[in-house]
Amino acid sequence: MVKICCIGAGYVGGPTMAVIALKCPELEVVVVDICASRIDAWNRDKLPIYEPGLDDVVKACRGRNLFFSTDIEKHVADAEILFLSVNTPTKTSGLGAGKAADLTFWEKAARMIADVSNSDKIVVEKSTVPVKTAEAIEKILNHNNNGVKYQVLSNPEFLSEGTAIEDLLYPERVLIGGRETPEGQKAVQTLKDIYARWVPDDLIITTNLWSAELSKLASNAFQAQRVSSINAMSALCEATGASVSEVAYAIGMDSRIGPKFLNSSVGFGGSCFQKDILNLVYICECNGLPEVANYWKQVIKINDYQKRRFLNRVISSMFNTVSGKKIAILGFAFKKDTADTRESASIFVSQGLLREKANISIYDPKVTEDQIQYDLATNKLDWDNQVPQQPMSPTARNQVTVMWDPYEATKGAHGVCILTEWDEFKDLDYKKIYDGMQKPAFMFDGRNMVDPVKLREIGFIVYSIGRPLDPWLLDMPAVA
Ligand code: NAI
Repeated sequence: MVKICCIGAGYVGGPTMAVIALKCPELEVVVVDICASRIDAWNRDKLPIYEPGLDDVVKACRGRNLFFSTDIEKHVADAEILFLSVNTPTKTSGLGAGKAADLTFWEKAARMIADVSNSDKIVVEKSTVPVKTAEAIEKILNHNNNGVKYQVLSNPEFLSEGTAIEDLLYPERVLIGGRETPEGQKAVQTLKDIYARWVPDDLIITTNLWSAELSKLASNAFQAQRVSSINAMSALCEATGASVSEVAYAIGMDSRIGPKFLNSSVGFGGSCFQKDILNLVYICECNGLPEVANYWKQVIKINDYQKRRFLNRVISSMFNTVSGKKIAILGFAFKKDTADTRESASIFVSQGLLREKANISIYDPKVTEDQIQYDLATNKLDWDNQVPQQPMSPTARNQVTVMWDPYEATKGAHGVCILTEWDEFKDLDYKKIYDGMQKPAFMFDGRNMVDPVKLREIGFIVYSIGRPLDPWLLDMPAVA
C-alpha cells in the first residue's frame, strides 16, 4: 500500500487528505500535527473544524485508510509522498514584518523531513508559499547528503472554507508544478495519477514549479481585488444614491466580467487573502517592482477602508457615541458555513466598538465563546503565529457577552450589526427583534442580508452597505 503523510492537520490538511483517502482506498493516508489537541479532535466525533460534508467523509475512511497521529517522525519516515500543509503566516517582526511570509513552521517541517528520511520521497507543497520556495526546500532537504532523493512539487490548494468538501470533490482545476527533468516529470505523473482517480484529465494542469507557486498567490489576489473593487463602488453608491447590488448585477451580466464574487460587504476576511497579497507585495518589492507592489497594496487598503467605514457609520449614526450602549453582533465567523474567525471583519468592528466603550452581545451559530474571547484579546496577525492567548482586560471582558440565540443577543440593544452572511439571518423574525430593542432601533447590515424596505416599515433605521442611505443617515455627519 502506498503511504501518504500530510504534515499539518488544519483547514487544508484535514479535508484534502480525507478526500484523497475517500477516493483512493488503496492508499494509506496519515495526517500528522504537532498540536496534540487538534489530532485528538480529529480522532473524535466532534472534529476540530466545521465544514459541511466533512464529518461523513472522515467517518467513511477514518481507521480504514485515513489516520490522524502525533507520531510525526515515524509516519514521515515511512511515507513515499509527503504533503506539507503547515501554516505560513505573515511575519510580525524582523525583516519584512507585516508583509513577508513567515516560513518558520515550514522550515522546521522541512528540516525534520531531511533528518528522519531514509528512503526517496516526493514532497508536495500544499501550503501557500512565496514563489521560489521549492528551491529553498530542495536545499534544506539535500543538506544531509545521505543519498535520499527528493522531488519537490507545488500543488497549491484552491478550496474555499465553507465549501471545502464540494471544492475538493469537484475541483475547477488541480494544479501541479514540478521540475522539468525526467525525475521531476515522473513525480508530477505520480501525483497526477492520484487526482485522476476522481478529477477529469483536462482539469489537471501541470506547469513548472514557479508558475504553480505564483498562480496561487495570483489567484487569491485577483479574487480579493474583485471584492475590493465592488466595495470601492459601494462607497460611491452610498454617496450618489445608486444601489451596489443593482450595479453588481448589471456589470456581472457582461461575460467578460461575470457575476461571481461581486457581493459588496463589510470587507473580506479569512486566513488567506490579506496574508497572500501582503506576501505578493513583498515579493514584488524584493524584485524591484514598486509599481506592481503598490497596485496590489491598494486591494488591502480598500479592504481596511471598508471595515473602518462600516464601524464609523455605526458610531456616527448613533449620535456619534456608542458609549454604554448595547450593540448586537450577528455573525463572528469570517464567512458563512465555517467556524473560522481568522481576520474576520467582526473582530475589527467588535474591537472598535469596545474602544468606544460600547457593550457588545455576540451571536454566531458556530463560533465558540472561547474563540471569541481569544480573538478580541489578540493583536492583529498574532493569531496565525500560535501566540498564546492574552487575557482580556477586566473592563473589556465586562463589555462582551456571547449568546447562543439571536433574539437574546439583540434584546435591549440600541443597534444590530450583521457581519456574517449566515443564511439564517435572512429569516429571523425582525419584528420580534425590533420589539425587544431600544428605540430608535438601528440595523447595520454589512452583508446585504435584509430587505431595507421591509425593515424600515417595521420601524428600523437601516444602513445596508452600498445601498441608498436612510433619510436619517443623510442628516448625520459624513464618515471617512
Ligand atoms: P492551519 O493553521 O489550520 O493548519 C496548519 C497546521 O500545521 C496547524 O495545525 C499546525 O499545528 C501545524 N503545524 C505547524 N508546524 C508544524 C510542524 N512542524 N509539524 C507538524 N504540524 C505543524 O492552516 P490552514 O488554514 O490549514 O493553512 C495551511 C496552509 O494552506 C497555509 O499556507 C495557507 O495559506 C494555505 N491555504 C489555506 C486555505 C484555507 O482556506 N484555510 C486554502 C488554501 C491554502
